[in-house]
Amino acid sequence: MESRHIHVNSDSFFGGVGLRPTHYPHLLSQGAGRVQWFEVISENYMDSFGRPREILKKIRQDHPIALHGVSMSLGSPEGLNLTHLQRLKQLIHEVDPFIVSDHLCWSKWGAHYSHDLLPVEYTRESLQGLIGNIQQAQEFLGRQILIENVSAYVQSTRAEFTEWDFLVQVARKSGCKILLDVNNVYVNAVNFGFDPMEYLRSIPPELVGQIHLAGFTDMGDYLFDTHSKAVHDNVWKLFTKTSSRLQQVPVLIEWDDDIPDFHFLEQELHKAEIIWNRTHNLQGVYEESNLL
Ligand SMILES: [Fe+2]
Repeated sequence: MESRHIHVNSDSFFGGVGLRPTHYPHLLSQGAGRVQWFEVISENYMDSFGRPREILKKIRQDHPIALHGVSMSLGSPEGLNLTHLQRLKQLIHEVDPFIVSDHLCWSKWGAHYSHDLLPVEYTRESLQGLIGNIQQAQEFLGRQILIENVSAYVQSTRAEFTEWDFLVQVARKSGCKILLDVNNVYVNAVNFGFDPMEYLRSIPPELVGQIHLAGFTDMGDYLFDTHSKAVHDNVWKLFTKTSSRLQQVPVLIEWDDDIPDFHFLEQELHKAEIIWNRTHNLQGVYEESNLL
């Protein structure tokens, strides 16, 4: 696919949204507006050679693309599925993404697949397995990948690390970077009763390669990471504190269910841009907002 190169000033805001079929008509007729790049779910395009692939190709001509996977199952103790990796490698070859990412989780055990992203146990044993799997994936794909922290609803009693220490160890020892989902940090902080700022302060800025912002659903006695709502005020507050520590990190509004119209996503992205510009003392046009 032919594409533009990415030209971004060192601290400029670089904002994207997920590319979703419901927005294809808008994008084809009106363009992407203030959205600078798109993230796609890798698996949705691996076996799709029809209209979605054509539209991806068209979007890619003007916008950088991040490939975000859900099935690498990097936490699986039995190793990686090389057939899956080969299909991903082919998609990478065609799309030339600026980011390739997956999750700190497992979704496959033997012949069993889960549709959920199941968190790994934060033990030395699983740390070694993850490091080996990530290194193998990076060697196979010939590039660095990003690993995202996931939301969780149960905790292992065997944990030997906090989630944040484990995540940092994984990144340092495997050579990957972190896709820091600020919403997932908040969801887990509420569900398990830790301080989200302790988590965020523990992540070295140089390890962060991308940010996710999303919405959760309050289920009463726990938060459920549904990606079906606007970013919560408390997550915006955490992003504000995190943003000031980071340099030139792509920021994504993630929305997968009950997807609003494209203009609403642009507005959410604009809130992120306002925060970014404010916390980086950037000159430029931004509007004050009493939401922030
Ligand atoms: Fe995410």
